[in-house]
Amino acid sequence: MDQTDDPTAYDPTAYGTEIASEYDELYDDMFETDSAVACLTELAGDGPVLELGIGTGRLALPLVQTGLEVHGIEASEEMVTLLRAKPDGADIPVVVGDFAEVTVPGTFSLVILAVNTIYALPDQDAQVRCFANAAAHLASGGRFVLDAWVPDLAQFANGPSVRPRSVSDKRVALVLAEHDPVRQRINTTQVHLRESGVRLHAVNHRYAWPSELDLMARLAGLRLQARWGGWDKSPFVATSTTHVSVYG
Ligand SMILES: C[S@@+](CC[C@H](N)C(=O)[O-])C[C@H]1O[C@@H](n2cnc3c(N)ncnc32)[C@H](O)[C@@H]1O
Repeated sequence: MDQTDDPTAYDPTAYGTEIASEYDELYDDMFETDSAVACLTELAGDGPVLELGIGTGRLALPLVQTGLEVHGIEASEEMVTLLRAKPDGADIPVVVGDFAEVTVPGTFSLVILAVNTIYALPDQDAQVRCFANAAAHLASGGRFVLDAWVPDLAQFANGPSVRPRSVSDKRVALVLAEHDPVRQRINTTQVHLRESGVRLHAVNHRYAWPSELDLMARLAGLRLQARWGGWDKSPFVATSTTHVSVYG
């Protein structure tokens, strides 16, 4: 049994350590970074801000550039090393550890958990602990914001799914996924085909419906304040494929 089958074998460093050297290149043009930073800046007020899974600083560094004080928790030393090498990156205090468990000094006006990373935790218990940990770091009136995809299980009607992610003359990216409805897990392998060779990246998620996340928030003493269909604050509707949820 490996990590994909056995939640007790969960290693919070695995994703970041494996993908660190390629993270920025792979995701540079894929995320809505500008609208996310604008929305987060508004939510943060005067700060300070804590980002769980701060990674290489895609969001944290532009937030610092707006004048906000930003702290981070990150499991992967490799991701932190890349953050530290960027302008302003070395000045961001980062605690290395599992964001469902570790604490940092202080309280924050905004705690951020971006890019589906709540699903990186292996089971409901760990996700509940993460909400509790986020809540424990909020100053009075503070908010916890996360963004995540909305489960779309129709793609697994005929078994594992295969879909192209991007196609160019230099690289083709495919996403192959397998669904375990009992554990609410989707184990995904991204396949990147380049002239230089083939790279595989595992992205294993324990998904939750928005309503389940709202219950986790309630267990942590938080309530849903806003839910949008994206960082542009578009309405969250039946066809939304992602949500940005704000708890306070
Ligand atoms: C998809 S990346 C997002 C990075 C960054 N927040 C961004 O928006 O680009 C997820 C990050 O969370 C980190 N991570 C995953 N699980 C974690 C955990 N349990 N505790 C701490 N960090 C974790 C990964 O190492 C990775 O850096």
